[in-house]
Amino acid sequence: MWVFLNDRFVGREEAVVSVFDHGFLYGDGVYETIRSYGPRIFMRDQHLARLERSAEAIGLEIPIAPAQWPDLLHEAMRLNEVGNDSADAYLRITISRGAGEIGLDPSLCPHPTVVIMTKALGNYPAAFSRDGVSLTVAKTRRNLPEALSPQIKATNFLNNILAKRESIAAGTFDSLLLNWREELTECTISNLFFYAGGTLRTPALECGILDGITRTIVMTVAQEEGIVVEEGHYQLRALQESDECFLTNTTMEIMPVTRIDTLPVGNGRPGPLTRRLQAAFAASRPRFLEEVP
Ligand SMILES: Cc1ncc(COP(=O)(O)O)c(C=O)c1O
Repeated sequence: MWVFLNDRFVGREEAVVSVFDHGFLYGDGVYETIRSYGPRIFMRDQHLARLERSAEAIGLEIPIAPAQWPDLLHEAMRLNEVGNDSADAYLRITISRGAGEIGLDPSLCPHPTVVIMTKALGNYPAAFSRDGVSLTVAKTRRNLPEALSPQIKATNFLNNILAKRESIAAGTFDSLLLNWREELTECTISNLFFYAGGTLRTPALECGILDGITRTIVMTVAQEEGIVVEEGHYQLRALQESDECFLTNTTMEIMPVTRIDTLPVGNGRPGPLTRRLQAAFAASRPRFLEEVP
């Protein structure tokens, strides 16, 4: 595996960062997970813009000029022989505060650490999409947005990891987190949608969720399909009484959910609206891909 580290591509063994890196010491950094379909990167500019916003929110200056990113991402795919007709690529950009003396002051770290990793995208088992997945309602609450904005895609992921541990212990696909008001938010790496009363519903950003790029596309595609979409504040009961539920993120696209704790969603099978949106998403995907370089 070739990894871009700061200013060049290095082999896996050379791809190491300092124990003084504040990303390691304090989780002080930001990241993005991106994917390609064949050689074309999905929503590239939107992911890079979100990376910029995350970095800006923590006062981190990205030492890579915006115009450099496309070439770097494609070079990473080329060197690792992914992002081609035989393998879609998973790409992860991580930017940490960099190495510096121990202490919270970011100015202790003169040079941010920049990493690009890529590998073949590992698809979820086909059975997940066919039969749906199960969720655990986590006891861990989603971070208070005023304490740590979920719009900052930060390398400090403990809130989500604690919730993930709960789903692992319960043997489910993932955990669903409620916020401090017991409203629905999102899962550990995905946004939540459910279909109830003839309306497709998804928690509003104010509930304390990441502004998912796939979430936005799904809302757009659903509206184009003539489906009524509502962003709102919902309690768990609304989800439990819904007809259908699914998750969205860059790598899982639209993932049906058919069980929440011990209760089936609807009739316990992925529903017709979810299937329709999966098909509409797949059909409209080309317009969300970059031009072939
Ligand atoms: C907490 C969280 N919510 C939602 C998402 C989905 O975001 P996107 O659709 O941009 O991949 C992610 C993606 O990593 C995430 O980490």
